[in-house]
Amino acid sequence: MGNVGAKEIPVLLSPEGLRIDGRRLDELRPLTIQAGALHQADGSAFVEWGANKVLAAVYGPREVHPRHLQQNHKAVIQCRYNMAAFSVDERKRPGLDRRSQEISKVIGEAFESVVFAEEYPRTSIDIYIEVLQANAGTRCAGLVAASVALADAGIPMVDLLPAVAVGKVGGAIALDLKKEEDNFGEADLPMALVPQSGRLVLLQMEGHMTEAELAQALDLGVKGCREIYEKMKQALRERYAIGPMAGASS
Ligand code: CDP
Repeated sequence: MGNVGAKEIPVLLSPEGLRIDGRRLDELRPLTIQAGALHQADGSAFVEWGANKVLAAVYGPREVHPRHLQQNHKAVIQCRYNMAAFSVDERKRPGLDRRSQEISKVIGEAFESVVFAEEYPRTSIDIYIEVLQANAGTRCAGLVAASVALADAGIPMVDLLPAVAVGKVGGAIALDLKKEEDNFGEADLPMALVPQSGRLVLLQMEGHMTEAELAQALDLGVKGCREIYEKMKQALRERYAIGPMAGASS
């Protein structure tokens, strides 16, 4: 946020109300979701969202490692979000830094609210999120990918978890920030929604906005999540297509 060292701050909003990549304020970046992208995992998904490329793999329910994390009455949900060294402009030092730990934690907790973990006591559901290319909103892309991967693995859940970051750029509330908007904008607000109930299970905020702007941002984010939800369901339908086209692809 507010890169103080930068010499030139780009114009984030044109007088016509268009953004740096020509999008309207309420427009998502192009999003494609492929369910079942990996053969080895129990469930997987690959998400391309704007310039983000994120892969999620799910294993389990399986034996808990390390053993002491095992819970007698439910499955533990373990999430590891990782950014590849080559995923960002300046090479990221490999390994779990504080940011990755925080993102792993909030994503894991979001899934704890929707997975029926009581059905699998003394097991672990392991979620791996690998960011191959990053351009802001990777925790949301990770949530979307992991959610489809969990469904692909057949893990019972209340619902899928669409997610998107809303923010404030050039004084206006905007849906699905890209990198320049995240860096130079006034606020960034990632969220994840349980579509069935309308409950938010992840909500973070960096920067500043007024109460009225926050209400507008939440409204816009929920609408964005509902659009993403349709694409997530479509990806699963394509993977498990039943009908004349079934079996046409490998
Ligand atoms: O990715 P997300 O928006 O969920 O998280 P963030 O911490 O707000 O990061 C915003 C963006 O900054 C990332 O998506 C990357 O494009 C970039 N970033 C980077 O260039 N180098 C890092 N070590 C971390 C993030």
